[in-house]
Amino acid sequence: MKSNTINKLEIAKFSKIAAEWWSPNGKFKPLHKFNPIRIKYLKENIIEHFKLKQTNSPLKGLNILDIGCGGGLLSEPITRLGAKVTAIDASKKNIQVAKFHAKKNKLKINYICASPETLKIKKKFDVIFCMGVLYHRRDPIDMLKELKAGLNRGGEVILDTLIIEGNDEVALTPIRYAKMKNVYFIPTLKALLNWIEKAKFSDVEFIGKRYTTTNEQRKTEWIDGESLESFLNKDETKTIEGYEPPLRCYLKLKY
Ligand SMILES: C[S@@+](CC[C@H](N)C(=O)[O-])C[C@H]1O[C@@H](n2cnc3c(N)ncnc32)[C@H](O)[C@@H]1O
Repeated sequence: MKSNTINKLEIAKFSKIAAEWWSPNGKFKPLHKFNPIRIKYLKENIIEHFKLKQTNSPLKGLNILDIGCGGGLLSEPITRLGAKVTAIDASKKNIQVAKFHAKKNKLKINYICASPETLKIKKKFDVIFCMGVLYHRRDPIDMLKELKAGLNRGGEVILDTLIIEGNDEVALTPIRYAKMKNVYFIPTLKALLNWIEKAKFSDVEFIGKRYTTTNEQRKTEWIDGESLESFLNKDETKTIEGYEPPLRCYLKLKY
């Protein structure tokens, strides 16, 4: 397995701010704000997908993998819903923070410092979350293949990644995007769907897309210590490099 795909810059950046993961008014404020909405969606979606009962622990019996888990903002609430969660992040410090926080909250989560291509467990998962990681990979199709390889038959991947608008099957390959040096490919939805087809998922469902606004993106995971205003132009129609502003897309990939 390859190990050279872990983006060192990305890991260093997140390690530096790891302690702030759990501060609702810190650098991850937007994630904290958005978290209840996405947890509600994920819970309802998983219940429907696996035809589960609405109980206090509706996800009991499911094995879930959270890739790029950061401090555990997704892993913790999903564990509280009864799922057995394995959560990986390439940053050692993030995993340390996540472990510490879970222990404090008496939650059993299998945190591992790894990337999908270096993960040495044979177990497969019913659901895999891959949120905010794909655009940091130099080999996005390989990553999609790794996601599929980690799924049980009948399982699903919830993918959240950046896209650009457009009807062509192309991807942006910026030197820097919104000041980040570690963004490799930002595809159109069509190009992303081609990558997904190459990874041989049986079906894909479009959940939605949303622009990140300055309102909700102050001092965030995007740029350590800088607000969105500093990497968008004045009227917020372009990044300071002249690219489209950050547009996140949510997809469900089935196997
Ligand atoms: C934007 S954050 C998303 C955090 C979390 N998924 C969420 O949505 O709340 C990206 C995370 O992915 C991790 N990461 C980046 N590249 C990775 C890779 N190749 N393998 C595993 N984790 C990675 C970073 O360390 C960081 O914690």
